[in-house]
Amino acid sequence: MIKVPKRATWGMRLNQLPPIEQASSSGNESRGRILGVGVATLDLINTVDVYPAEDAEVRATGQRQTCGGNCANTLTLLADLGHACTWAGTLANDPGAALIHADLRAHGIDCTHAIRCPGGTSPSSCITLSQATGSRTIVHYRDLPDLSAAAFARIPLGRFDWVHFEGRNPDETRRMLERCRREAPQISISLELEKLRPRIETLLRGLDLLLIARAFALEDGGPGTAADPGAWLTGLLSITDARVLVLGWGAQGAWLLKRGSVPRLVPARPPERVVDTLGAGDTLNAGMIDGLVRGLGPAEALGQAVALAGLKCGRAGLDGLAAAARAQGL
Ligand code: FRU
Repeated sequence: MIKVPKRATWGMRLNQLPPIEQASSSGNESRGRILGVGVATLDLINTVDVYPAEDAEVRATGQRQTCGGNCANTLTLLADLGHACTWAGTLANDPGAALIHADLRAHGIDCTHAIRCPGGTSPSSCITLSQATGSRTIVHYRDLPDLSAAAFARIPLGRFDWVHFEGRNPDETRRMLERCRREAPQISISLELEKLRPRIETLLRGLDLLLIARAFALEDGGPGTAADPGAWLTGLLSITDARVLVLGWGAQGAWLLKRGSVPRLVPARPPERVVDTLGAGDTLNAGMIDGLVRGLGPAEALGQAVALAGLKCGRAGLDGLAAAARAQGL
């Protein structure tokens, strides 16, 4: 289990905020102003019939190139769901960055706070998508600095309702979180945990929503975590003050833990055929943030998020997903 951080708690701010469960007011029509802080990548996605063996040479049945990255994917969906989204991250000065920027802009995402890093290379992922299983195998390369706390300090926070962070670059991200709490205590904050990194535990205080990937839980808790993910999640309560914790659990669904309650599994809503699981976790996160921003309670929001992630797995890519969800009444 990740170690208990020795740092101040932020209980005052949390006490001042209305509980997420009671935030409901304007139902489906409320839209948020959401700032996402994290990575945008260039994804090159090759579709193959069956995942190849090592050292094989196979022909792809299809290929597409798109902007990816956890934060960028989550923002793309949130924007398509009608929220006013802003991305804060770094861009290289190469053709990949032009594609990333154009893709984000095409979804209406404000990129004015993105920082150019002239010497770097756009982060990229070579992704092999198996049609036999829908699994996605990702080889990621990055040689670009993350957004610094100094750059984040220049973003006016007053116009946002929600800030979503990727759990990366802990020393800088911790400063960004502290700034949000200090200067804009009214903003709701979510943090995604995908990979165990040194000092990641310093990011767990002052959050409203903690979104955890299965890979993180298994890396932290070991393979035994799979036997009782709810117990692992409960163990986190002592080192985070997040009011709501969500743990994605792939084909089984997602675990929900509300502070003061017990964990429960919200079962998956799988499509008839799984064709593309790339970004399913990012979709779950977007669905959860969307639900809470629109005033749903955590259980209802996660029910919706799980349904959205299931819908995503039955379709290629993220384009058109929000419209399809709307058409199905999600
Ligand atoms: C999917 C994804 C891809 C990206 C990779 C980065 O969750 O965000 O779009 O290439 O993960 O780790």
